[in-house]
Parts: sequence; structure tokens; C-alpha cells
Amino acid sequence: MVYIGCDHGGYEMKLALIGYLEKNGFEYEDMGCGGEAVDYPDIAEKVCAKVLENEDNKGVLICGTGIGISIAANKINGIRAAIGYDWYSAKYTRLHNNANVICFGGRTMGVNSVTEALDVFLHTGFEGGRHAVRVDKITALEGKNHV
Ligand code: RB5
Repeated sequence: MVYIGCDHGGYEMKLALIGYLEKNGFEYEDMGCGGEAVDYPDIAEKVCAKVLENEDNKGVLICGTGIGISIAANKINGIRAAIGYDWYSAKYTRLHNNANVICFGGRTMGVNSVTEALDVFLHTGFEGGRHAVRVDKITALEGKNHV
């Protein structure tokens, strides 16, 4: 299942990506917004909570730059959110980071390259092996307090 959400800066891009998901037969749920001004951490939390319900779930988050919403998502334990700034990073964040959320900038990225990146993200699996050791170390950071 794909959970997709955006703030007002990502609304148009989200509509385009929903078009891609529908055309390609993906099951998805739109978690808002509907174009009105919202706070991106709220949308990140809603989408990420659904992603965490099943390890096969994926999340797609869009704000103006992709940055704020990715920062918010990465505060949530179990979420590995990557900015998919091109197809190559979208591919390798699945292969090497086991990213479960991909983030885009509705005001900074083009719809064609974002659609291409999402397509690669949704069709690529985690490589495991030495990368699993590193991802486990990311997970271990969640329980540490450095201040
Ligand atoms: C909203 O204006 C904007 O700040 C937001 O979409 C995002 O770009 C934040 O990182």
C-alpha cells in the first residue's frame, strides 16, 4: 500500500503522482491536504503512522522543497525518508538505505523526473547484506540521546 500526502506547496505535484499511481494499478490512500494551507509535520506524521503499520507499505510526501517534510518524517522511529532528487538516488535509497518514504519538492522539482523517481522507488527492493548492518545502525540511533 502506498500512502501519499502533501502540504499546500506539494499539492499539484501530488495530483500528478496520484495519476501515476492510478495508471499503474498501485493501491494508495491520499492522506491530505486538499490544497489548503497546512503544516507539513502534521501530514508527515499521518502518512508515516500508516507506513509503519506494515513493512511493505511505502510513503510519498511532498512539500515545497521536500526538505521540511523529510526532516519531520525522519523524527519518527522506523521511518527512513529520503529526498528523491533523481531516479538514481531513488533507486539507491531503496537498495542501500531501505527507505520506506520518499519525499519530493513540489516547487523545486519537475513532474517528469519526480514521476520517474517514484516509479524506480516503488519497483526496487532492499539489497540487505552489508547494507542491513548499516541500516541497523541507523535504527540504533533512534534510542540514543546525545544531549
Ligand atoms: C510552505 O510554504 C513551505 O515552507 C513548505 O512547503 C516546505 O517547503 C518546507 O520545507
